Amino acid sequence: MADIKKIFDNPQSGEITVSGWIRTLRKSKGICFIALTDGSTSDNIQIVAIEEQTRDYDRLTSLLTGAAITVRGNLELTPEAKQPFEIKLSEYTVLGDCPSDYPLQKKNHSPEFLRTIPHLRARSNTFGNVFRVRSEAAFAIHEFFREKGFFYVHTPIITDSDAEGAGEMFTVTTLNPCTENNANYDDDFFGKHASLTVSGQLEGEYLALALGKIYTFGPTFRAERSFTARHAAEFWMIEPEMAFADLYDDMDIAEAMLKFVLKRLLERCPKELAFFDKFYDNGLTKRLCDVSTAEFARCSYTEAINHLIAAEVDFEYKPEWGIDLQTEHERYLSETVFGKPVFVFDYPKEIKAFYMRQNDDGKTVAACDLLVPRVGELIGGSQREERLDILKARMSELEMDEAAYSRYLDTRRYGTVPHAGFGLGFERLLMYVTGISNIRDVIPFPRTAGSIY
Ligand code: 4AD
Ligand code: MG
Repeated sequence: MADIKKIFDNPQSGEITVSGWIRTLRKSKGICFIALTDGSTSDNIQIVAIEEQTRDYDRLTSLLTGAAITVRGNLELTPEAKQPFEIKLSEYTVLGDCPSDYPLQKKNHSPEFLRTIPHLRARSNTFGNVFRVRSEAAFAIHEFFREKGFFYVHTPIITDSDAEGAGEMFTVTTLNPCTENNANYDDDFFGKHASLTVSGQLEGEYLALALGKIYTFGPTFRAERSFTARHAAEFWMIEPEMAFADLYDDMDIAEAMLKFVLKRLLERCPKELAFFDKFYDNGLTKRLCDVSTAEFARCSYTEAINHLIAAEVDFEYKPEWGIDLQTEHERYLSETVFGKPVFVFDYPKEIKAFYMRQNDDGKTVAACDLLVPRVGELIGGSQREERLDILKARMSELEMDEAAYSRYLDTRRYGTVPHAGFGLGFERLLMYVTGISNIRDVIPFPRTAGSIY
């Protein structure tokens, strides 16, 4: 049995067997054409059945879109025709019929409708392409870090600490909220309060301070009630962490990583990208190509705010020094001011996490966000505060419970070193490379505030 992708990569005439699902079946006098897909590529293979030469021809032509078949036949190269080759059917078996209530009959279903059938939508063109790109992008990320000497580590999904200090965590409990309302977490499964992780960073730091360079690639969970097209309650994050590195090393590695992934996708998913270019985001392929070779822009938060204040745009949130940048600001900076991805660095410490390294000005921290056109924030990173006294002072300002972070503080006690890292939102990356504008449509089974598909 051959994957249809393999056949397209290297078509050879001769006897062949393929299995797949019928995309379309068209019959005219004495002849029937089937477009068959097996999911391995966005290409359908054309099957031709001739009535006179096909046993049970009527059964074959009664099959509907979505039915699964195995076909044996002769692959013939057809260089003059629209498709470069076709299979002349000699035999077929029906693996599974598909009745006419199959929801994926038409070509252009709305994304909203497709979200209601998460178990079937991967069979549509759009989602097949998204999930093939998703797989290639994940693989490219692993390739990049491996080539650069990073170790792939696994940080816990169930955790007892809030890595971002933002309190947006889902509790993990076996207590029954109906009967044990006043129960104490001492009696709970872990003997203390536990949550789903919002980031593997803290544990990532522990491992980087032992192995030098590491990265995580795993699911993260945020109980933030953000009803936007860019926030999911469950999303995947890539978090590299490097010992002996500062903010500039951090931006360099983030830039190199993104360019590497874009190059790999341009090489390995040209058909998928051409599809997104045509139907979702005109000019996508060229833009990704340009970004993969151009130098990213870099500008401080203070300069960024000045650009926003000078802009003749009626922003919903008025830009002024100290505000957290909103998507409208992030997009304006990357789309209008710079016209390419831009790192904004040195943010006010009040709007950033406790672990970021304080700058000498006493006002800002060594944080960097990578903002990209259409999506806004794609990456958030920082150099970490490695100085024990300064870290403790900041935690105390924020009224954080030092005891809960005693392990984190230990790493600043035992051979502390400058180090830095970042988090790349994997779904945001996919939105950027596909032009798909809703995060629900780049993850197979989206979980967002108010809905679980
Ligand atoms: O900026 P964030 O919150 O940074 C961290 O979690 C750090 N601990 C990362 C680190 O330095 N190791 O999140 C990182 C990225 C964001 O830039 C964004 O792309 C993505 O994760 N992200 C989300 N993606 C989808 N849905 C959400 N609710 C997201 N929240 C963050
Ligand atoms: Mg962030």
